[in-house]
Amino acid sequence: MKKISEILKISLQEVDKAPDLNSLDAVRVRYVGKKGKFTTSLKLLGDLPVEKRPVVGEEINKAKSVFMKTVSLRKTELEANALEENLKKNSIDVTLDGYASSRGGRHPISLTRLRIEEIFQNAGFEVKSGPEIEDDYHNFSALNIPDNHPARAMHDTFYLDNGKLLRTHTSPVQIRSLLAQGAPIRIIAPGRVYRCDSDQTHTPMFHQVEGLVIDKNVSFANLKAVLHEFVACFFNKDVELRFRPSYFPFTEPSAEVDIHWGEGKWLEILGCGMVHPNVLINAGVDPELYSGYAFGMGIERLAMLRYQVDDLRVFFENDLSFLRQFN
Ligand code: FA5
Ligand code: MG
Repeated sequence: MKKISEILKISLQEVDKAPDLNSLDAVRVRYVGKKGKFTTSLKLLGDLPVEKRPVVGEEINKAKSVFMKTVSLRKTELEANALEENLKKNSIDVTLDGYASSRGGRHPISLTRLRIEEIFQNAGFEVKSGPEIEDDYHNFSALNIPDNHPARAMHDTFYLDNGKLLRTHTSPVQIRSLLAQGAPIRIIAPGRVYRCDSDQTHTPMFHQVEGLVIDKNVSFANLKAVLHEFVACFFNKDVELRFRPSYFPFTEPSAEVDIHWGEGKWLEILGCGMVHPNVLINAGVDPELYSGYAFGMGIERLAMLRYQVDDLRVFFENDLSFLRQFN
């Protein structure tokens, strides 16, 4: 009995001194494992006289259970320490500034296009689109620009190997939309167009918005009114417009419109006119019944004026410090 209490005393000291979970487990094995001290003591019971066995056995079991309880307490304690340690090592300071991921924004050309679409949609126009890879017929012939017409040379067309071409303007959408839905019609068609052309106010790819209104009794006065109204909405103020007589094979009469943007400074923003009867005929519309106007405006030109950018090429260089200003 004395030996048992001695073993218990030493075992409890070892439990207390165990510095970590591994050594604690080693202590446990040393006392209650297969060859542990308490285990072997129980095996030795057989050597004692029969009447002493129950008392000593009970004593060993009591000691063993005290030991196990102490091990379990120490285990909880060591686990808590380990957790604490781990937290300290991997701690995060939640008061530090975070890394915000920077937010992108729309490109100024897209912003301008969306603004134009919204204004015309509010005026009852539908938004349409057409293919960028066009055929000669829709880009030229149907628009009253026959083969060998000098206007073809004006367009600096990119031709593809398959005989098709990159559309040089959004006007072919006039033909496609009229053929698809007939008159009356009131649409705009924004999109990319391509010309072999590059300087401060020209880029080889740029954007236009085509406008087309065909109905009964549509006049040039309606066209002027719509364009004045549009420009006032777009710039949020009255802007001076200059209608210059011009020539397009697909309109008659035709005009180009410049916008006043400073002392003696004018910038051409669009071409327009009354749709030529030949175009109506090519698109299956009776010119005796219907008439209308069309216009094609440069989105980049409007974006330049709105954002006071004086070189159009910056819109396509993708310089982030330029683009971030529009976020
Ligand atoms: C045309 O493209 C005609 N299709 C417009 C039209 C439509 C007239 C319907 C009548 C009826 P023009 O080539 O002038 O026209 O171009 C129209 C507008 O696109 C110009 O006023 C200008 O704002 C813009 N633009 C033309 N070329 C470029 C270019 N290289 N880079 C940027 N903008 C351009
Ligand atoms: Mg022009």
